[in-house]
Amino acid sequence: MKIAWGITGAGHYLKDSFELFVELKRLQFDRVNITSFVSRAAQEVTRVYGLFQHLRTVSPGGYMEEIILETEQGWSYPKTGRFSRGVYDALFISPATSNSVAKIAHGIADSLVTNAAAHALKAGIVVFILPVDIEGRVESPVPYFINRELCIQCRECAQACPNDAIDEQIDYLRCNGCGLCKDVCRSDAIIGGSVNLAVREIDKNNVKALLKQSGLTVLNDPTELKDALWAMV
Ligand SMILES: Cc1cc2nc3c(=O)[nH]c(=O)nc-3n(C[C@H](O)[C@H](O)[C@H](O)COP(=O)(O)O)c2cc1C
Repeated sequence: MKIAWGITGAGHYLKDSFELFVELKRLQFDRVNITSFVSRAAQEVTRVYGLFQHLRTVSPGGYMEEIILETEQGWSYPKTGRFSRGVYDALFISPATSNSVAKIAHGIADSLVTNAAAHALKAGIVVFILPVDIEGRVESPVPYFINRELCIQCRECAQACPNDAIDEQIDYLRCNGCGLCKDVCRSDAIIGGSVNLAVREIDKNNVKALLKQSGLTVLNDPTELKDALWAMV
């Protein structure tokens, strides 16, 4: 069984997606090959949430088990030609940002993951998508940030940071989500938590447009992702 995992830059459902793919690989070690297709934004976002290093568990390396980074690809995405050759049994895009959902819904294929979706659908390979913005409101986790009202400016967090990512705030392009800053903070000023956001009408409509595409299945939550993944193996 050969599965392609497309990861886009969403914090929402990111941890759930990682947990499921890690679990699938653990349970089906020899029977499943997973190639990870990581969008430019996903590379940054997975690092900030401290998840990037776990990609190696899912895609340990070698043919069909690589981590394919958008940042290391050209603009024509030759690696997605694999879908045209029918190499994969399925493509799972999880989590899918509202940005990537909008593109796929409108046939745009100008990024690694949206290009993978286009090639897969043209080749008759089934595509599963877990959008983060479907309808109503979503509770989305946020990466660590410094609450300036609680901060006593002792700078211990900056000294503890292995990536020199802390100045006035945390630089998310350097942060790897390790949480050392939080551990050393004497005033509990470094917090994560979540934000509650409304799903835009346009995102809701884009998901409806996805539903009209044949060969493509929209997954409504991580439970449906698990069912779809486990049904493959
Ligand atoms: C920490 C962080 C979390 C984010 N979480 C989300 C999210 O939950 N949903 C979303 O649609 N975009 C989210 N974004 C914004 C996307 O990463 C951004 O729109 C990006 O251009 C998406 O590109 P992609 O669809 O090619 O991955 C987040 C950005 C950051 C920095």
